[in-house]
Amino acid sequence: MPHLVAASLLAADFGNLQRDISMINNSKADWFHVDIMDGHFVPNFSIGTPVIEAIRKHATKPLDVHLMIEKPERYIHHFVNLGADVLTFHMEATVHVNRAVNLIRELGVKAGVSLNPHSPVSLLDSILGDIDLVLIMSVNPGFGGQKFIPSTIEKIKKLNQMRKNSSSGFLIEVDGGVDEQNALPLIEAGVDILVAGNTIFSSPDPEKTILNLKNCLNRAE
Ligand code: DX5
Ligand code: ZN
Repeated sequence: MPHLVAASLLAADFGNLQRDISMINNSKADWFHVDIMDGHFVPNFSIGTPVIEAIRKHATKPLDVHLMIEKPERYIHHFVNLGADVLTFHMEATVHVNRAVNLIRELGVKAGVSLNPHSPVSLLDSILGDIDLVLIMSVNPGFGGQKFIPSTIEKIKKLNQMRKNSSSGFLIEVDGGVDEQNALPLIEAGVDILVAGNTIFSSPDPEKTILNLKNCLNRAE
């Protein structure tokens, strides 16, 4: 499957949100990546219910919702009702991983689990057969515009090998510091979905940057 690009709205201009959503609608981006932070699991807040409703109203592409919240199982119904198409939570944020994954799937939504940079992929061993997606954080979650952690590439290669050795067909997504330089090595390591915030929204030509990420073209080349 050709890889996907998920545009992270965290880096959008919230004073011009409808404009930025239209740009993504008209671009070659595949998904809207929506970051939810609770000020506990990560030391920051992002957006809440009214803004997600506005995004859902205007977005014509799937919403890839990334929960960076403690005990995400409390809010699964909430985010499904708001229109999430993919719902991902952190392994580190709950002791009820299997319960949360089952609930998301029962509600007809794709279930993803995420790992912080320090969490080993071996944590996923007993859940790989039950999930649709693994989101590997390539920065410490909580903020956009951070520097990519290079050891992520090896981690993704390891996860890709685990996928090959298993019968499960989960997708691998990477989030944090993704740019036109590391896109190709990430795809070669096994990534299916590139999340990008700053790289897209700080570009003078965001649609072109999205196209470059889709084609793994490096502007500097
Ligand atoms: C960080 C978020 C990311 C963030 C990525 O905690 O999960 O989705 O928006 O932003 P960039 O691409 O700017 O690193
Ligand atoms: Zn994210």
